[in-house]
Amino acid sequence: MNMAFFISCDPEDVLKQAEESTLRYQTGTPLSVMDGVLVAVKDEIDCLPYPTTGGTRWLGKARPCEADAACVAQLRACGAVLAGKTNMHELGAGTSGINPHHGSARNPYNVGKVAGGSSSGSAAVVCAGLCPVALGVDGGGSVRMPAALCGVVGFKPTAGRLSNAGVLPLNWTVGMAGILAGTVEDAVVAYSAIVDQSQPSYLRPELNLPMLTSTPSISNVRLAKYGKWFNDSSEDIRTCCDKALQTLRAQYGWETLDVTVPEIEEMRLAHYVTIGSECTASLAKKRSEIGWDVRVALGVYGSFSSRAYLNSQRLRNRQMFFHKEIFKTADVIVSPMTGVTAYTLQDDALSSGELDYINGAALIRYSIAGNFLGLPAITVMVGQDKGGLPIGLQFIGRPWSEATLLHIAFAMQEACSKNHRKPVVFYDLLKKD
Ligand SMILES: *[C@@H]1O[C@H](CO)[C@@H](O)[C@H](O)[C@H]1NC(C)=O
Ligand SMILES: *[C@@H]1O[C@H](CO)[C@@H](O)[C@H](O)[C@H]1NC(C)=O
Repeated sequence: MNMAFFISCDPEDVLKQAEESTLRYQTGTPLSVMDGVLVAVKDEIDCLPYPTTGGTRWLGKARPCEADAACVAQLRACGAVLAGKTNMHELGAGTSGINPHHGSARNPYNVGKVAGGSSSGSAAVVCAGLCPVALGVDGGGSVRMPAALCGVVGFKPTAGRLSNAGVLPLNWTVGMAGILAGTVEDAVVAYSAIVDQSQPSYLRPELNLPMLTSTPSISNVRLAKYGKWFNDSSEDIRTCCDKALQTLRAQYGWETLDVTVPEIEEMRLAHYVTIGSECTASLAKKRSEIGWDVRVALGVYGSFSSRAYLNSQRLRNRQMFFHKEIFKTADVIVSPMTGVTAYTLQDDALSSGELDYINGAALIRYSIAGNFLGLPAITVMVGQDKGGLPIGLQFIGRPWSEATLLHIAFAMQEACSKNHRKPVVFYDLLKKD
């Protein structure tokens, strides 16, 4: 079975990095706790010695990769072993991860299902145990959504917390790099390695890293839940996510508050206009080399007017106000990460791509505030549906509240990870045989 995890991977380069790391350990000079740790990188982020294809056939040639992206350079400086460039939905313009040019990343929990997109390969390699951590890019849930479908942690910090240097500028006001990791602890380690510290501290609040211990060190967490929105998901997801909230209350005494997030549909449309206009503005398309579903998406993106874009930015300010009101009484907003679990990968979609707006809309439903408002957000697996496919729960935080968010996600993970079943495709790299 072709799992289509990677677009490019050079085994010699990986072995060379690994040998250098081994030498450092032998001489007692590892560079950091990440020395020797395999990290995969979405093929939308520059990482030598590979081209950056953005999931296309042509972009890697049209735009040579000359240096590591800032976050990749930081990982390299920590001794991480860069494992290759992971597969993705073409140009990030879709949610399934079905890619007619590079193969469609399959879900390690069930190889007949999609991995989700657009950071499909990054989610799948972490899920399959090949790398504890991978980088993705999240412009419309593209890190969190595949993370949820593959049962791993997906973490998108506050806009501006990570450098965008060397990340394809497909939609610059909503997209940014993010982390996919097997556990919240691994996400924290990777986060501390890639945080952008190149700019003066008055531009953004200082970095706080949480001390994760099994006894939660924060109390009285208040979780905002918009019931109507929360319920707009499959029955398995709704039940499972509700149960997770009951667990938080029973184990830690954390209360859920009922809130309303107004104008969610308007926010979705405004985000769509924004991401589409930005994508159109940054891309000179090679139509003939682009897959069918992305051609349709780009056709729609290109039809938005400057007036629609500007009005979308007005809605953005208005939505930020609504969210700030909620954060006056709640620490985080909680929702399912997706409205459906991983859906079936149709054979005929493999070579031609697919447009599935019903599943696409259900996948993206809970992602928008993280991108349109730049809020930090994280998903952790809280259970599995009747078919054994992972279900993710999302926490959305106030700007710059990453430490709180990571604490809450860790508490959630600790409360329910014992019950999770392992993926069908799983490589235990620590097992000696
Ligand atoms: C926007 O760009 C991000 C990366 O910058 C990508 O992950 C996302 O899927 C893109 N979306 C669209 C619709 O172009
Ligand atoms: C959401 O669904 C649950 C049952 O799953 C129900 O008890 C609750 O009233 C619903 N809430 C809203 C706001 O529809």
